[in-house]
Amino acid sequence: MVYRVQYMGKEDLRQVNEIDREAFPNQWPPPDYRRELHNPLARLLVVCDDRHRAETPAKDAPHQEVSGLMARLKRWWRQYRFFGDRASESDGQFIIGFASIWVMADESHITNIAVRKGYQRQGIGELLLISIINLSAELKADIITLEVRVSNLPAQRLYQKYDFVQVGLRHGYYTDNREDALLMSTGNITSAPFQTQFQQLKRAYARKYGEQVKSLSNIAARESAA
Ligand SMILES: CC(C)(COP(=O)(O)OP(=O)(O)OC[C@H]1O[C@@H](n2cnc3c(N)ncnc32)[C@H](O)[C@@H]1OP(=O)(O)O)[C@@H](O)C(=O)NCCC(=O)NCCS
Repeated sequence: MVYRVQYMGKEDLRQVNEIDREAFPNQWPPPDYRRELHNPLARLLVVCDDRHRAETPAKDAPHQEVSGLMARLKRWWRQYRFFGDRASESDGQFIIGFASIWVMADESHITNIAVRKGYQRQGIGELLLISIINLSAELKADIITLEVRVSNLPAQRLYQKYDFVQVGLRHGYYTDNREDALLMSTGNITSAPFQTQFQQLKRAYARKYGEQVKSLSNIAARESAA
């Protein structure tokens, strides 16, 4: 098993922000994922690549001996910035994608989904979407909605594959270039037709990538047990 889905933690924030900036360089201001971790409506997921460890520059830098004072200052600054939040440094896991949803009543809304550029087209976005659908069903949502740029065809293909259809258009939705957004939605994710199609897609995914992924399941059970 290589790719693992789990809940995002504070220690993942640096890498999540890095992926967010790579994926959405023109979105300003950037989302505040630290705040989202405390939002009771939000659920945030990451995918880790277990073959790699995240880089920890202060430890790995070749000039560490020469600039030991600088390293200590940087470490002190990081601790100062995240005072009271000591788990903010990466614990070494390498994050290759993330997703966030808000769950309100019977609706789950995808607020963000992104995969590191070097890892795209390897099933990671699909793994995140499968996890979102599983999680949304476990949290008793009936439908999943999202906005996507009209020009973002790769993302639209991903959603269409999982039975999202366009249900509206938001004119000038994106503040950077006033681009329109498609509003997309699933039908009822608990319905038999949706579930039949979803199970087929999951089986196809497992045949293609099954050996190397561990997806998130039974979240609701774990949440209520916690
Ligand atoms: C959209 C995104 C998350 C897809 O992730 P990914 O890991 O590359 O996608 P996957 O490899 O899991 O592909 C799953 C399906 O998505 C569709 N897809 C993904 N990339 C595609 C592309 N470049 N062109 C056409 N279809 C594409 C295909 O239907 C694919 O299924 P297939 O493998 O059977 O053809 C990724 O491109 C990304 O991070 N983009 C930047 C951020 C972004 O735009 N997020 C969406 C905001 S609404």
